[in-house]
Amino acid sequence: MPLVNIEQLVKHYPMGKTKFTALKGIDLSFKKGEFTGLIGPSGSGKTTLLNIIGALDTPSEGSVTVLDKKIEKLSHLEAAHLRCTHMGFIFQTYNLLPVYTVFENVEFPLLIMKMPEEQRKKMVLASLEWVGLMDKINSRPGQLSGGESQRVAVARAIVKQPDLVLADEPTANLDAANSYNILEMMVKLNRNLKTTFIFATHDEKVIGFLRRKIHLIDGRVAKDEPVSAGGK
Ligand SMILES: Nc1ncnc2c1ncn2[C@@H]1O[C@H](COP(=O)(O)OP(=O)(O)OP(=O)(O)O)[C@@H](O)[C@H]1O
Ligand SMILES: [Mg+2]
Repeated sequence: MPLVNIEQLVKHYPMGKTKFTALKGIDLSFKKGEFTGLIGPSGSGKTTLLNIIGALDTPSEGSVTVLDKKIEKLSHLEAAHLRCTHMGFIFQTYNLLPVYTVFENVEFPLLIMKMPEEQRKKMVLASLEWVGLMDKINSRPGQLSGGESQRVAVARAIVKQPDLVLADEPTANLDAANSYNILEMMVKLNRNLKTTFIFATHDEKVIGFLRRKIHLIDGRVAKDEPVSAGGK
């Protein structure tokens, strides 16, 4: 069974009296351990597709199965539970909680999971060590650079060692050095823990690291391209 299986997915958005169709019949599947990108022009449906895989949004038609759960059949609570236990999210704008420290931001998903304090502390520190931010544990997001903020977001996404990390334009606000730094970290996680990554991106730097490229054009899969192991 693939980690994610998508059949005949259609997504409409209401637009006044009519509707706008953002996804027009998508068939795709993703296996455990993939490092895949959804690429394509602005408005092609990358974020829409990522949000449905992440159970943040629901299909209008068709079926999306993630870890044996049909997204279209989940209640809000079940969707939240799936996200909370199995997925990590990384967004372009970091989405850190400004009043919390770096430690508390990374701890947050584990608090929701009701993990005991001792174990929580261990996992948060391991995760911050991973992203090289042990010296910023007590800083607040306002005191961090963009690159550091995104590293906190990566630490938060991976702290519970999720099956699936969904990253929407994770490097859009970063300079080249920070982008490579973040990407190398994700490649390492993908290799060491077999964490599955799905990106939405048009950043060439990200595209250079992908093992599979799915090109979306106007709500359809235009090309689904494996990248040979000889690549980066
Ligand atoms: N909530 C919404 N209501 C109406 N239309 C929407 C909504 N969200 C997205 N759309 C439309 O759906 C289409 C796909 O949007 P989406 O955000 O998935 O594109 P994208 O490929 O992620 O683009 P970008 O590269 O700019 O992030 C766009 O035309 C957008 O205007
Ligand atoms: Mg987008």
